[in-house]
Amino acid sequence: MKKIVILASGSGSNAENIIRFFQHHPNILVDSVWSNKQEAFVLERAERLNIEAHYFSRDEFISTDRLFNEFKKREIDLIVLAGFLLLLPQKFVREFLVVNIHPALLPSYGGKGMYGAHIHQAVITNKEIESGITIHLVDEVYDHGKVLFQAKCVVDPQDTPESLAKKIHELEMEHFPRTIEALLKSKP
Ligand code: GRF
Repeated sequence: MKKIVILASGSGSNAENIIRFFQHHPNILVDSVWSNKQEAFVLERAERLNIEAHYFSRDEFISTDRLFNEFKKREIDLIVLAGFLLLLPQKFVREFLVVNIHPALLPSYGGKGMYGAHIHQAVITNKEIESGITIHLVDEVYDHGKVLFQAKCVVDPQDTPESLAKKIHELEMEHFPRTIEALLKSKP
């Protein structure tokens, strides 16, 4: 069995979708979900789906080895960032395979401050005709690692950040679990 942990800071619709996708998978298992926000809905979603759910503080993430040691102990094969807003300490990136989903077509609309509605607003303000999702490996720089997969959607002149977010969300639901599966299949 290949083991995944999911790190998320928010609602967790991607986390839930990934958990459901791998629920009866013969080779891939979601081990646990970890959030730096105690009140994040993702923790509730995980518990409802009978997946271990853990809170950790930003301070312990940055200045202790709690998570790192847990992931080593559990022999984790992949860390999935699904709406996770902290930068991973370099140690994690060197030791583990890490994948992230970004709700835009990187390298455009990436980097600091580019998250959630800020991204969709910027795309609309710049009158882009398309946006989409980028699933990429994570290295030490925000939104920078090797791109594994991109999918596009049309941006209509009447789109709002909310309506664009909805289109992007559909792409995320369709492609994130499959891309994770392909990535893990390609690893010995
Ligand atoms: C997604 O749009 C993802 O692309 C971004 O954060 C959002 C998380 O949404 N990285 P959710 O918490 O999975 O609903």
